[in-house]
Amino acid sequence: MKILHVTCSPRGEASESYRLSKNIIGFLLKAHPAATVINRVVGGDVLSAIDEPYAISQQASADVTEAGSIARSDALIEELQQADVLVIGTPMHNFTVPSTLKLWIDHVARVRRTFNVGAQGKTSLLQDRPVYVAVSSGGRFSGVTPRQPDFLTPYLKAVLGMIGLHDVNFFSVEGTAMGPDAVAAARHKTGQALQDHFSAYPSVEADDPSNQTLLTP
Ligand SMILES: Cc1cc2nc3c(=O)[nH]c(=O)nc-3n(C[C@H](O)[C@H](O)[C@H](O)COP(=O)(O)O)c2cc1C
Repeated sequence: MKILHVTCSPRGEASESYRLSKNIIGFLLKAHPAATVINRVVGGDVLSAIDEPYAISQQASADVTEAGSIARSDALIEELQQADVLVIGTPMHNFTVPSTLKLWIDHVARVRRTFNVGAQGKTSLLQDRPVYVAVSSGGRFSGVTPRQPDFLTPYLKAVLGMIGLHDVNFFSVEGTAMGPDAVAAARHKTGQALQDHFSAYPSVEADDPSNQTLLTP
């Protein structure tokens, strides 16, 4: 089994969303000890912006070239296609995903590669697979008294659904700006939600101590 781990916080491995996404991967590895984890860091300026050849390739009857950011897009799509599970670690930035994660989405949500457009609208081209999204936010965006709008979870559901990924599971540590007690309480609550979710998760592979983690450039 292959787990694709996409992370985008500017704080890298010190970040709360990275920490939560690693917890999720820990649960997945308990059920699938021989799984391979592919770490795809898209934070900072790792990905360059999509360019003119890419934009032209999105037009109705475009010639397919391998110029510019299309080659990068192909590689990222291939990596996503080969993954059995996708885990995304993301902070909330200005009510939605950081621009770096949006850029990864711009690379993988590509017409004629991961979705088509026709008379019925958009149809997805990827096979469905589980997606786990680990979100960290300074304030609260869910629950009965959210303090702000949430464009992050509906956006990810819509855009991942457009390319065929419908089984999207969100876990969040909210209120990181509210002090250490609030963070500890949020981590605890999310830890319990993870326990509950994965207690029903099937274990499909025999125990294999040779877990392999690939650090991708
Ligand atoms: C540019 C920027 C925008 C942010 N916008 C929001 C926001 O809209 N809502 C919120 O609750 N927190 C916001 N925050 C705070 C982060 O979501 C919070 O610090 C989070 O815990 C960071 O997660 P990380 O450690 O995974 O990077 C923002 C932070 C930055 C840097």
